[in-house]
Amino acid sequence: MELPSSPAAERNKQPIAEVLRRRLSPSARVLEIGAGTGQHAVHFAHNLPSVHWQASEVPDHLPLLAARIAQEAPGLPEPIELDVMGDWPDETFDAVFTANTLHIMPWAHTPILIERAASRLVEGGELILYGPFHDNGAHTADSNMKFDRMLRSRDSDMGVRDAVEITEVARVHGLVPMADIAMPANNRILVFEKAGREG
Ligand SMILES: C[S@@+](CC[C@H](N)C(=O)[O-])C[C@H]1O[C@@H](n2cnc3c(N)ncnc32)[C@H](O)[C@@H]1O
Repeated sequence: MELPSSPAAERNKQPIAEVLRRRLSPSARVLEIGAGTGQHAVHFAHNLPSVHWQASEVPDHLPLLAARIAQEAPGLPEPIELDVMGDWPDETFDAVFTANTLHIMPWAHTPILIERAASRLVEGGELILYGPFHDNGAHTADSNMKFDRMLRSRDSDMGVRDAVEITEVARVHGLVPMADIAMPANNRILVFEKAGREG
């Protein structure tokens, strides 16, 4: 079966894998939200083979994601259905990862994603967000400004999100900012850690 392929995911999968290798313990249990074509899940399965990678997608995109994982990384668990606004699995993870999803969902979904991710993380677990981000409403690069305009012209609910606002929401849910890592093509990885009870 011919599976769809995202050129962006092809370019960014290795730089992301290098960050994940530094942050995740070898046996980490990770939940991926909005896994898309599954190129990331497959790449991480081959490059971080002892990590337990649970990919997920909304129902419409689940069959193609499942097909790629079955073909290219059959050792991974089957991807699960997960809409950020719906039911989440009733289990805990060492990390919740999502790439290039926040600017696709309406902004109102981001606080829900952060709250539910926080509730599924173990203490010391990390929420890891990859994508383009603004800071205090200011564009950090021309390419991100153009991308933001293109998204908003397609759908007014979409748009590049603000790292400062995300950080404020994360703190409300007990997630402490740990790292803000510059990535190729003016993208970033934002990392938040679930504080302990005294944290
Ligand atoms: C631009 S794609 C990114 C896919 C993949 N993570 C990547 O980096 O190639 C955005 C993804 O977000 C997913 N998505 C959108 N709204 C969602 C929601 N409410 N819950 C879960 N995933 C959602 C879409 O199904 C889509 O696969």
